Amino acid sequence: MSASLKKLPPAIELETKIVLKQLTRAHRALAELKGFAEMIPNKNILINAVTIIEAKNSSEIENIITTHDELFRAMSGENDQNPDAKEVVNYRSALWHGYKLVKDNGFLSTNMIIEVQGLIELNRAGIRKLPGTVLKNEATGEIVYTPPMGEQEIVGLLSNLEQYINMVAADDPIDPLVKLAVIHYQFESIHPFYDGNGRTGRIINVLYLVLQKLLDSPILYLSKYIIRNKATYYRLLQEVRVKENWEEWILFILKGIEETAIETLILVKEINKLMENTAEALKERLPKVYSKELVNLIFYEFYTKITYIEEGLKISRKTAAKYLSDLETEGFLASEKIGRERIYLNKSLFEIVKNSEKIFK
Ligand SMILES: Nc1ncnc2c1ncn2[C@@H]1O[C@H](COP(=O)(O)OP(=O)(O)OP(=O)(O)O)[C@@H](O)[C@H]1O
Ligand SMILES: [Mg+2]
Repeated sequence: MSASLKKLPPAIELETKIVLKQLTRAHRALAELKGFAEMIPNKNILINAVTIIEAKNSSEIENIITTHDELFRAMSGENDQNPDAKEVVNYRSALWHGYKLVKDNGFLSTNMIIEVQGLIELNRAGIRKLPGTVLKNEATGEIVYTPPMGEQEIVGLLSNLEQYINMVAADDPIDPLVKLAVIHYQFESIHPFYDGNGRTGRIINVLYLVLQKLLDSPILYLSKYIIRNKATYYRLLQEVRVKENWEEWILFILKGIEETAIETLILVKEINKLMENTAEALKERLPKVYSKELVNLIFYEFYTKITYIEEGLKISRKTAAKYLSDLETEGFLASEKIGRERIYLNKSLFEIVKNSEKIFK
């Protein structure tokens, strides 16, 4: 049996010398990413592309593996959807929903967290009421941790976490990135839901960065970093519990933030460059078709449809269809019939999204 989970804040010095050193590096990388992302004219395009990648990666930790092609089909609304791809699409909607809630309200509440988890799992089970949830060592099956039981206790811990998350800076001497590590540990240890705690916790991380104004757009995700350091991630969560090894845990998260910010900046620059290059090439090769709005539309998701162009540019269906077919002839898009509709894929953007797996390894 494990001792009951302690409320926050941890009664221990968190900002040790070595933590402070790594903290500077993480902040520097994050600030650079934020600065670049802020300058990009069409932020939703960026967020869309980055969150597709995140949805796929985060779901992969949960063993929901899907290919980019399946994902693209599920996103474009095909009826006969692959269930795993559908889960990835749900994750992304949950993420967007959480982002809007935090942006609109300026805080992150327990209820918002419950909403986000409900969208990931597409059920309303909410906070655990029945006993039986245990965390096991994946390899051996041994029970490593039994999270708090009883709705009352879980609700109490969540409300303590909510206060910790929303504490105003003036009352709170601890750096927000250090707090992010504390919040992630605490949320995973409360383990308030029957399932989806990992994915919800990973969404909370980015929402907290946005809440703290360390990012404007939700574009920094530790999922890939967690995948490549999975064993360490689980070990350190456990070591905070059994030997209060906060330092190594916090360092692990700060390193993740630094590495991921650097990688995300490369990705974001690449997407931005591609948009600029596409606009130039279009102006040259299809001057009559070119408009800034059209470029935005074909980058909005990595696929488009006649209807989107028709509505987006306020042109006739016939003209919209002609534009897309010209774009296909010139090699900017590749079309495919999915269900009853023809879908146009932005090949180069799709390639970047696919290759991000390589960048991130
Ligand atoms: N020893 C531990 N202490 C605290 N939290 C843990 C421990 N081991 C694992 N966890 C957390 O539990 C999460 C898994 O919980 P759950 O299955 O509810 O979430 P999920 O989103 O379905 O899964 P996943 O995180 O694998 O995608 C892990 O991601 C991790 O954050
Ligand atoms: Mg699970």
